[in-house]
Amino acid sequence: MTQPITKAIVPAAGLGTRLLPATKSQPKEMLPVGRKPAVQHVVEELQTAGLEQILMVTGRRKRSIEDHFDLEPDLVASLEQAGNEALLADLAFLNKGQSRFFYTRQSTPKGLGHAVSLASEFVGNDNCAVALGDSLIAAERPAGLLQSMMEAHVRLGAAAIVAVEEVPIEEAFRYGIVSLADGVNVRSSEPLLLSDIVEKPPVGRAPSNLAVAARYTFSPAIFDALARTSPDRKGEIQLTEAIRILIHQNLPVYAWLLPPGCRRYDVGNFESYFRTFIDFALADERYGYMVRQYIKAKAYEL
Ligand code: G1P
Repeated sequence: MTQPITKAIVPAAGLGTRLLPATKSQPKEMLPVGRKPAVQHVVEELQTAGLEQILMVTGRRKRSIEDHFDLEPDLVASLEQAGNEALLADLAFLNKGQSRFFYTRQSTPKGLGHAVSLASEFVGNDNCAVALGDSLIAAERPAGLLQSMMEAHVRLGAAAIVAVEEVPIEEAFRYGIVSLADGVNVRSSEPLLLSDIVEKPPVGRAPSNLAVAARYTFSPAIFDALARTSPDRKGEIQLTEAIRILIHQNLPVYAWLLPPGCRRYDVGNFESYFRTFIDFALADERYGYMVRQYIKAKAYEL
C-alpha cells in the first residue's frame, strides 16, 4: 500500500457540554475562531494537505456543519453581481481543490474511537488521516504537519502515526500520553517508534510528557483494533486504546513531534476556546493589527 493518503475522517460528534450555553443549539465545531468557524480551519488544512475525500462524523444538533460546506450558487451569484471580490474570496474554500464531503452520524456518545469506527466502510482498504474537528493546528503552513506524517506513514508502512506535543507533566492527565521505544531520541528528525500509549493517565502516573495532539494517520488495521477495543469506565471506546492494541500486536506505530513554530489549539472548553480565539484574531491578516492595538490599550487598564 504505497499510494498517497487521500481520505480524511473528521470526528465532530462530541456534545460540547463544557461549552454550554454557547453549544445549546450549535456545534462547538461551528464556534468562530477569528473570521471562520473552527471546523473550517480544519477542513482548509486537510484540503491543502491534498486530502480530497473528507468524512465528517457528526451527531444531533450538528446539521449546520453540513450547511456550512454546501455550495450556495445563489449567494455566489449575488456577490458576483455586486462585484464583491473580497467576500467571494472568503467563500473560496467551498471550491478549493477537488474536495468531496461525506457525512455520517454518531447517534450515541460512545467516544472518539467509536466515532472513527463509523468510517470503516468509507476508508475500506486504504490508509487514512484523522483530524479532530474541534482542534486546530497553527503554523506558517498548518497543512505541513499532516503532509509530513502522511508521507512518512506511506514510506515506513506504518500502522499509525500520532502527532504529539510536549505538555507540562502536571497536565498529562488531560491527554493521550505516549511511551517511546527504548533508545528513541525525542529530538530525532525521524518518526519516533512507540512502545506504549495510554489515555488520560492518573496524575503522577504519566509515562512521559508527550501528549497526543489531534492529528493521526492510520492503516486499515485500526478498524480491526477498534472492533476489539473494550469500552472504558464511561462506556466509551477510546481511539488511544485501539492504538495500544496495534502496538501490542507489534505493528509499527510512531509519534510525530509537532515541529518548532507549530502549535495545537482546541475549542473543547472556554479556557482553551478563548486562548484559541485570541491567538487566531491576533494572527488575522486583515484584523490582527487592530486586535493587537486594542489588547495593548486594554492591558493598561488591567
Ligand atoms: C482526545 C484524545 C486524547 C488527545 C486529545 C487532544 O481527548 O482522546 O488522546 O490527547 O484529544 O488531541 P479529548 O480532548 O477529546 O478528551
